[in-house]
Amino acid sequence: MKAIGIVGSPRKDGNTAYLTKQVLDGLEEKFETEMIFLKDQEINPCEACHSCIKEEKCIIEDDMQELYKKLKEASVIILSSPVHMGGITSRLRMFMERMWHLRKGQLKDKIGSFIVIGRRDLGSAVNEMEEFLTRLKLVKIPGVISYGFNKGDINKDKEALKNAQGQINQILNL
Ligand SMILES: Cc1cc2nc3c(=O)[nH]c(=O)nc-3n(C[C@H](O)[C@H](O)[C@H](O)COP(=O)(O)O)c2cc1C
Repeated sequence: MKAIGIVGSPRKDGNTAYLTKQVLDGLEEKFETEMIFLKDQEINPCEACHSCIKEEKCIIEDDMQELYKKLKEASVIILSSPVHMGGITSRLRMFMERMWHLRKGQLKDKIGSFIVIGRRDLGSAVNEMEEFLTRLKLVKIPGVISYGFNKGDINKDKEALKNAQGQINQILNL
């Protein structure tokens, strides 16, 4: 069984990456894990061509095609993002829009959760994560919210680290 972490942060050594790794490491006793940085992927925006309405697949040929395969194979999908301008990052947003054709329950038996990290004002980031998991009809596990600004600040947020452990336990016990 596989658990995938999709990281929307541009900082590969930042707070979001750190916490996502913590969660994936904790899941390793039961799952094969993989952390995917959207920064490393060539992902183009949805063009609203509506091809996916007819064929239920996205016709844009970029790295999303490989990601679709990985997501279909995975049992656990964790999305993570820092808050940028009051919401999730543009990279994660682009990824989410490209998942539109998978909203009809194709991924419904998979476990989904999220990690959001902001300095102070999370804006709509948590809602965006919740909405995405709902739209995809995943089995939702409560997300982890954390506060920090500079790289490494995540380690000062003890409550978030505790909640991350709770997220791990819930997934392992399902
Ligand atoms: C362009 C930009 C916009 C940001 N906007 C917000 C914001 O609206 N609210 C907030 O709480 N933090 C905001 N932050 C702070 C980041 O969310 C915070 O530094 C976070 O810890 C970064 O995570 P990372 O280390 O994974 O990149 C912003 C940071 C950047 C670079």
